[in-house]
Order: sequence, then C-alpha cells, then structure tokens
Amino acid sequence: MQPNQMIQEINKFKKEKDAIILAHNYQIPEVQQVADIIGDSLALSRAAQEVNNKLIVFCGVHFMAESAKILSPHKKILLPAIDAGCPMADMVTAEDLIEYKTKNPDTTIVCYVNSSAEVKAESDICCTSSNALKVIKSINSKKILFVPDQNLGNYIKNKVEDKEIELWPGFCITHHRVKGHEVERAKELHPDAEVLVHPECNDEVIQRADFVGSTSQIISYATNSDKTKFIIGTEMGVLHKLETDNPDKKFYLLSTGLICNNMKKTTLNNIYESLKNEQYEIHVEEEIRIKALKALDRMLEIS
Ligand code: 13P
Ligand code: SF4
Repeated sequence: MQPNQMIQEINKFKKEKDAIILAHNYQIPEVQQVADIIGDSLALSRAAQEVNNKLIVFCGVHFMAESAKILSPHKKILLPAIDAGCPMADMVTAEDLIEYKTKNPDTTIVCYVNSSAEVKAESDICCTSSNALKVIKSINSKKILFVPDQNLGNYIKNKVEDKEIELWPGFCITHHRVKGHEVERAKELHPDAEVLVHPECNDEVIQRADFVGSTSQIISYATNSDKTKFIIGTEMGVLHKLETDNPDKKFYLLSTGLICNNMKKTTLNNIYESLKNEQYEIHVEEEIRIKALKALDRMLEIS
C-alpha cells in the first residue's frame, strides 16, 4: 500500500474505532505526522489519562504504553511494535528493589518512569526527566535511592544539598555513550550555537551544556529562544519538530550515535496493522497496577 493510502486507512480506523494516536518526540517523522498528540513522557502519560477515546495507539516504547495502561485501565492500549523496549528500564528489577528495601527500610525509592510496572510497584514515587527535581524536593526523608538512570539521578543530586541520594548504575545506551570531547568538537564547528542536552547524558556532557531538559523542554527552549543555532544532545527524533516549528533556525545533532533503535521500530505500516487487528494490547496485572498507580499518581499530583 502507498503511504498516502495507508494514512487514509489509518484515519478511517481512527474514526471507526474511536482511537487516538499518541507519539513520543523520538518517533520517525511519518509517525509524528499521523499522531494526534506528540510529547515527552510526562505529557503523554497525562494525555493518555485525559483523552476520552476507548482505544489508544501508543507510538513509543513499552514502559510508556504500560504507564498509560496503569493510569487508564479501562482503555485499550496498543503498542504497534511489540518488541520496542527500553534497555535502561530492564536494568533494575522488582526483585532488586525488594532486596534493597529489606536492607534499607528508611530509604525512599524514586523511580524514573523508564521502568517496568513491577519496579514502579516497589517504588514510593515516580518521576520523568521534566519533573525529577520537583519530585525529589517534595520528599521529606533524607535518604533516597534513585533508579534506574544514574545520569538523571546524578544531575538532580548535584542540584539538591539536603538529601543523600544513592544512584542505581543504570543508563540509557543511546545518551550515555556521548562523550565530552564530542561537545567540544561540536562547539568548535558551531561556535555561536547553544548546547541543549537531555539529562540522560553523562556528567561530562551535562557540564558542557547551556540547557538541560526533557525532550519537550528542549523543543520549547529552542522555539522560544532568540538564538538561531542549537547543538542538540538527545535522540535525533526531536529534530523533526524542532525543524518544522522553527524553519529559520539551525539544529546540529551533537553525536551521530544519538539514535534509539527501539524508538525507530514503529512505522506507518505497523500503526495500520495495530489499528486493523487491535494489536499489541498491553496488560498489567491488577495487583501490580494498583501499587504502580500510587507511585505515578504521587508524581502527577506534584507536577
Ligand atoms: P522524555 O521524558 O524527555 O521525553 O524522555 C524519554 C526518554 O526515553 C528519553 O530517552
Ligand atoms: Fe530508553 Fe534511551 Fe531509548 Fe529513551 S532513548 S527509550 S532511555 S533506550
């Protein structure tokens, strides 16, 4: 089927089945073009809860669709590419946390939304890259374990002095590998550009950045700035919206390695198949869901 015809079919299914398409900022341009809502993890979690549609096609990775299911159990949540996972989310397990808690009963566990439902269920509160600082500041206890992203955890740890924050050694395989010397090189090539990076980057990159924020915060920062050139230190998918919304500005990807293969697994074809066959439905065991919901709700209340 030709792309145009496929888009027509997708739109037809959307109407017939009362479906909505949510897409993360890292999705390929064709997917963003058929999406009804595009955003970062926090915006998409909120949208999944707020929309009235019975069917949600979630173009992102597994933990995102799972969070939507936790928040909206009565909606049917579909992940078009069933093998689109987040390797960082697999770097901590519920068993790890259960063991940790028996040894550290006074520590509050904060989990990045890039985690499984089971991990959320064993955590006290969730956060995303856009509200992590607010979440940490809202916690009364002094001792905190931050899972699974050591880089986001370290970025926050450097901003709060009154907490003891222990970092789990997880990381994003896409952001963590970017090196400080790549920032230096990009600055040499584009001396009048500002460096905007995601907090999943490691400290040597963060220390050299002008702005650190979630995918949507990076897009808003560049869009609202008077500057015209930006070096972008997050997954290349954000370039689509940056360039569409800012045709007069220039964007340079910080590193050629900034591609998340899992985010690229969703295509127009599997959105079409997803709507047609109502696949692949995300399920979360009710006992786990109720516990995970507490951690997500606590986050949503304060952000
Ligand atoms: P955002 O919450 O900034 O969209 O990030 C999600 C993510 O997976 C970044 O790698
Ligand atoms: Fe996970 Fe990194 Fe891909 Fe985000 S970019 S989904 S953290 S692997």
